[in-house]
Amino acid sequence: MRILFVGDVVGAPGRDMIHSYLPRLKRKYSPAITIVNGENAASGKGINEKIYRSFLESGANVVTLGNHAWDKKDIFDFIDDAKNMIRPANFPEGTPGKGLTFFSYNGQEIAVINLQGRTFLPPIDCPFKKADELIELAKKRTSVIFVDFHAEATSEKQAMGWYLDGRVSAVVGTHTHVQTADNRIFPKGTAYISDVGMTGPYDGILGVEREVVIKRFLTSLPVRFDIPTGGRTQLSSVIIDVDVKTGKASKIERLLINDDHPFFE
Ligand SMILES: [Fe+2]
Repeated sequence: MRILFVGDVVGAPGRDMIHSYLPRLKRKYSPAITIVNGENAASGKGINEKIYRSFLESGANVVTLGNHAWDKKDIFDFIDDAKNMIRPANFPEGTPGKGLTFFSYNGQEIAVINLQGRTFLPPIDCPFKKADELIELAKKRTSVIFVDFHAEATSEKQAMGWYLDGRVSAVVGTHTHVQTADNRIFPKGTAYISDVGMTGPYDGILGVEREVVIKRFLTSLPVRFDIPTGGRTQLSSVIIDVDVKTGKASKIERLLINDDHPFFE
C-alpha cells in the first residue's frame, strides 16, 4: 500500500500547489491514502473550514496540523466535526479535536497520528508517551500506522523515529519547512524522514516574504510575517510503500516539485 504525504502547505501559494498538483500526483503514484499537513494553510498560520474542505476536494484524505492549529479562531467551530482532520494528540486532555484517525481504503484501515515536539516549542504533554498510548489503540484495528511528528529539533524527531521503529509504518517530520535528505527505512521497518519540507513560495524564507525575514535579522525588531502573493512555488512530499500484512515500510522516496525539480507526469 502506498502513502502520499505532502508537507506544510503555506498560504495561498501552497494551496494553489495542492489544487494543481495533488490530482496529478495521485494519478501518477496511485496512493491508497493522501495526507496533507495544513497547519500553515490560512495565510501562514492555521486553517479554516473552507480550506480544509478544498483539500479534501483536491484529493487529500486526512489533514494534519501542528503548533499553529489554533491560530484561526473558527477552528473551534468545526474541528470536532472535521472527521478527516487531526491536531497534535499530545495537547492536554479536553482539547478540542482528536490526534488519531482511521482512513479506510478498499477495506484496509490506515491509522494516522499527529504529534508535536516539545523542544523549542510550547510545553505540552509528552509526545513519546502519547505515541505509546495511541499505537496501542491503533494496533487493535490495523498494522498500518502513519505518524506526522510536528517538531523543531532534528534530535527530537530522530529520537521519535528510533523510539517507534518496528511499531509504526512511518514517522515523518514536519514544521521546519526544509526537506531533509535523510529519508530511510529503520532496521525494524519504519520509514523515516526528519522533515518533508514546505509547500508554498519557493523564493521566500521558509515560505515567508524574504525581505521581512531579512529585516528582522538585521534589526531584531518584530515584523509581520507576510506570505508572498506571487512568484515561484514548490511542493514537498514523500511517497511511502508499506506491506499491509506486517505494517513494515519497504521504501520512502522524496518528491520535490519546483522550477529546479520539475514534475513529469
Ligand atoms: Fe509548525
